Amino acid sequence: MRELWSKLAGSIKRRLRKNYHIYKGVLLPPRDSRYLREAYRSDKLFYESTVMEGIKFTQRLGVTDKTRILEIGCTTGRSFIGLVQKVPDIYYIGIDINQWNIDWCKKYLAKENPNYNFHYFDLKHVMYNPNGKIEMNENFRFPYETGYFDLVYATGVIPNYIDSEVLILLKDFNRMLKIGGRLFLTSFVEEDVPDMEENPENYLMTFTYPRQIVRYEKNFFEKLISEQGFRIDSFEHRTEIDFQSAYYLTKIS
Ligand SMILES: C[S@@+](CC[C@H](N)C(=O)[O-])C[C@H]1O[C@@H](n2cnc3c(N)ncnc32)[C@H](O)[C@@H]1O
Repeated sequence: MRELWSKLAGSIKRRLRKNYHIYKGVLLPPRDSRYLREAYRSDKLFYESTVMEGIKFTQRLGVTDKTRILEIGCTTGRSFIGLVQKVPDIYYIGIDINQWNIDWCKKYLAKENPNYNFHYFDLKHVMYNPNGKIEMNENFRFPYETGYFDLVYATGVIPNYIDSEVLILLKDFNRMLKIGGRLFLTSFVEEDVPDMEENPENYLMTFTYPRQIVRYEKNFFEKLISEQGFRIDSFEHRTEIDFQSAYYLTKIS
């Protein structure tokens, strides 16, 4: 009986716990739900990273209130929070394969604004969603129209996929973009390494999960990108979170 009461009390406490933080007037997600949990426990550092994201959207990717944006792997809205500080009237869809993330974004970020959309996608992934119903195979598609978006944005998503899956993802990013549309992605990319390696030894961090990092050789990775109809506008080595590299791309075919 005592055990039951203590379970019940724990559950009530969890429900009553504040599920957000306010920093400089901006609503931020709970600390243990943030991408890079440890590094971003600090509201200040997390907030500053959202500001950098906002700058990237506007200054590097030319986002305006006319841009239709799809963010793949929005987690708990780090990029979105920075984006709406800069351009409040955007049309945005954030999709994620983690149900909790999307429930949180819907409750705290969507603000009943029909242009702010957060969608859960039940894709199977060994680390993020092992019981997902949708398989990543040659019939794979995100649930959006062809040629609809001006920008597909994917920070920290490609690193968890092997090359055959990256091909499937790139192909579908291409399908969803207009000609001339932009793709921003980050990846672990180096020179003088094997073409592809999962959780490479002595590389940046210790690994807890399968497929925590898939690292690519630069030429090999860029061939994958070009073959899917993208032009590489800019490559920036290790400029992103966790020493990932940035690719600014344009759909040309
Ligand atoms: C490392 S986090 C990225 C964090 C976020 N983009 C940011 O910069 O703060 C990876 C996120 O992508 C999601 N994810 C992984 N594969 C995905 C896919 N194919 N489609 C949508 N979301 C995906 C995971 O559930 C997780 O929330």
